[in-house]
Order: sequence, then structure tokens, then C-alpha cells
Amino acid sequence: MSDTRLSVVGTGIRPGGHLTTETRHLLARADRVLAVVDGLTLEYLNRINPATESLQDCYRQTSSREASYAEMVQRILAAVDQGGHVCAAFYGHPGVFVWPAHEVIRQAHAKGLAAKMYPGISAEDCLFADLGIDPAQCGCQSYEAMDFYLYPRRIEPTAALVLWQLAALGDVRRVGFQADPAWVSALAEVLMDSYPADHVATVYEAATFPLDEPRREPVALAHLDKVQFSQVSTLYVPPLAAPVLSEHRLARLGLSHSALEPAAYRRRRER
Ligand SMILES: C[S@@+](CC[C@H](N)C(=O)[O-])C[C@H]1O[C@@H](n2cnc3c(N)ncnc32)[C@H](O)[C@@H]1O
Repeated sequence: MSDTRLSVVGTGIRPGGHLTTETRHLLARADRVLAVVDGLTLEYLNRINPATESLQDCYRQTSSREASYAEMVQRILAAVDQGGHVCAAFYGHPGVFVWPAHEVIRQAHAKGLAAKMYPGISAEDCLFADLGIDPAQCGCQSYEAMDFYLYPRRIEPTAALVLWQLAALGDVRRVGFQADPAWVSALAEVLMDSYPADHVATVYEAATFPLDEPRREPVALAHLDKVQFSQVSTLYVPPLAAPVLSEHRLARLGLSHSALEPAAYRRRRER
């Protein structure tokens, strides 16, 4: 049996292609793998390491997501307590919108156990590729949709905006995956304070099989309540306009526009 430790890994969005070499290595060498993944991914992980068990049963219709997450943390820690190298696998990037992955590491460290998270490919990584977005060009704001609605932030319309977990919008009891239409309309109204009603966003779903196409459904903000959000829908709101170069900031450094040429800053100004 290996030294006692916990590795928290991500299987990516398309496990067949997104599993990193590092993650595959950790999975293959682990004494036990506990995975919160769909059935096909589980089969795939089982081929890499037959000591793979599913934690998917932590999700029960009657349980809140908090109760399910607490059970995952408890079961992973119980496995580590038994000794050896335990790998906990979550889909996508294990640290992106995965509370139990962070919590299990926090609790393991509190108990003096070795625990480490390894990066994976997240839905946002796929979005950048499938929608041709480079956050270097305009910046990117990324929020959980319900959190974004409930805790107002200053929206920057010259930067991209990514909203996660649309299907959980309005699920105040944290038990289902069906967006509440009243909440979707309210979210659209908040967005329309910063963007015009005809500003076109994209409902995005990365393909989970290599040959499938992603969902890239355009929707004007005024019609956001007309689209169906699935458990894997993410909303991409493109920038409304390019940012404005600050003469004041240039002057502070004794610079003029020409000092920036031929840098990318000039290209952006001209778009
Ligand atoms: C609990 S989070 C898990 C995110 C995952 N850990 C990751 O790294 O992408 C679930 C949310 O991720 C986004 N998501 C998951 N799968 C997706 C996919 N195939 N395409 C687009 N967004 C996805 C959706 O916003 C969904 O509501």
C-alpha cells in the first residue's frame, strides 16, 4: 500500500480526451479511487483502475446538495483514514464550482493528512475554445448565476461575462436542477440594466463526446426566459463594446498613444 495521502483530480468534460497525463498517472497508481462522475466516465475510470467506486449515490432526491456534498467529504475522508493513496475524482476541473473538492482538502489538512488538488479541464476552458474567446482581449467575469443575481456586482460591459449553473437558478432549497422561470426573467432584467435587450448571449454546452457538436444557442437577453437550460448549460454574454483607453493613465506615465504602437492595445482601440 502507498503512503497515506489524498489526491483530488478532475476528469475534464470529455474524459476520454481531457484526462491529463498527470491525472491518469495518479488514478492508475491509487489504492482507491472515489469518483463523483457519470456512468460512462465511471466505466472509463474503472478500466484505468479497477479499485474505482462511485460516490454518485450521495445525490438523493430527498437530500439537499449540501447534505450530498457533506456525505462525499465524509466518505472520502473515511477512505483516507484507512490508509494508502486515495484519489477523489470529480468531472471538469475539481476546483471549479466543486465545494466538496475544496472542503475535503481543507478537512484532510486539518487532520494533518497529506492532500493535494490537481487541475483538470473545466467547462470554461471548453467555452474559450468552442466560442473562440480569448480573455486576454477583453477580460472575463465569471459568476455562479444565482450568486450573481442575489449579490449585485458592478457589471463591466466591455468584458465578457460567464454565468454558471443556470439550471440551479431559483433553486433555493438546493434540491433540483430546473431553473425557475421567474428567476430567469429577473436575471434577464438585471442584465438589461447593463446591456441592450437585443444583446445576444449564447447558451453554451460543451460536447461530452468527441464527435458531438457543442450547443451554441444564441439568445437575445429579452428572450432569455424562452430557452431551456439543462444541468450543463452555461451562459456567455459577449462584451458590448471595446474598453476606452485612459488618456489620464497614459499622461501619468508621460506617454502618448503612439508609445503603445504597435502593441495589442492599439488593435483593441481600432476594433
Ligand atoms: C457543479 S459545476 C461543475 C463545473 C466543473 N467542475 C467544471 O470544471 O467545469 C456545474 C456547472 O458547470 C457548467 N458545466 C458543466 N458541464 C458543462 C458543459 N458540458 N458545458 C457547459 N457548461 C458546463 C454548467 O454551468 C453547470 O451548471
